[in-house]
Amino acid sequence: MKKFLVIANWKMNLDLNSSFKLAKKIKANKSLTKKAELVLCPTFISLERVGQVLKNTKISLGAQDVFWRDAGSFTGEVSAPMLKKIGCRYAILGHSERRQYLGETDEIVNKKLKNVLANNLTPIVCVGENKKERKSGKHIQVIKKQLSAGFKNIPAPGWSALGRKTKNQKIIIAYEPIWAIGTGVAINSSEAAKMHGIIRKYLEKKYGTSLVKNNFIITYGGSVDKNNILEFTKEAEIEGVLVGGASQKWQSFRDLIKKID
Ligand code: PGA
Repeated sequence: MKKFLVIANWKMNLDLNSSFKLAKKIKANKSLTKKAELVLCPTFISLERVGQVLKNTKISLGAQDVFWRDAGSFTGEVSAPMLKKIGCRYAILGHSERRQYLGETDEIVNKKLKNVLANNLTPIVCVGENKKERKSGKHIQVIKKQLSAGFKNIPAPGWSALGRKTKNQKIIIAYEPIWAIGTGVAINSSEAAKMHGIIRKYLEKKYGTSLVKNNFIITYGGSVDKNNILEFTKEAEIEGVLVGGASQKWQSFRDLIKKID
């Protein structure tokens, strides 16, 4: 069985020194990687230093964002080849905070996804509905639209045309209901599993069952902590979690991972 995936999204919360210290603590506690597959996503300025800490360990490095071109006059941006050079293997795309505060659209996510696949990085594509959409029963429609626009013109054989061998390519979908992010109130785990099933079916229709089984990992994000992690791990549909707040302090992160069995 695949190990449960835990992606730590440190957001804009830890500076260089704090990121370095937390990464060192996580690395030193070897039992954590026995419990889960870990990916740490610090800010851009901390990536290289955290990457050095994680060198020759089983813990992976991820970026919180990436631009859709390899190089050029794009002030303030960072490219996938640059991330790869410092050991980064994952990139979060379309996080709801970027959609909300920086105008990131499904079209932008689509451009980034193409570039990330062409550069052999593993994308973590975030999708999620807001409270109003959930209350009005439109959440399934919203997620399907985000998936269809995000994966537009990305047929499976096209992955290799983008430079990646389809066989080895992993794509992570992070289902993150916006109303559950940073609120301390996670979604009911069976509700999350239900949405994961819908996402899986949608992808299977587009890419086929075996490809989805082998190449996609569907994770949940939104107020996951040590008190609710077990609810999520016991759902077969949920293959991992994207953790914000609880991943940013040593004790809460350690306690969360130790709960995983
Ligand atoms: P949270 O954040 O765990 O603090 O709710 C999750 C996320 O935004 O990835």
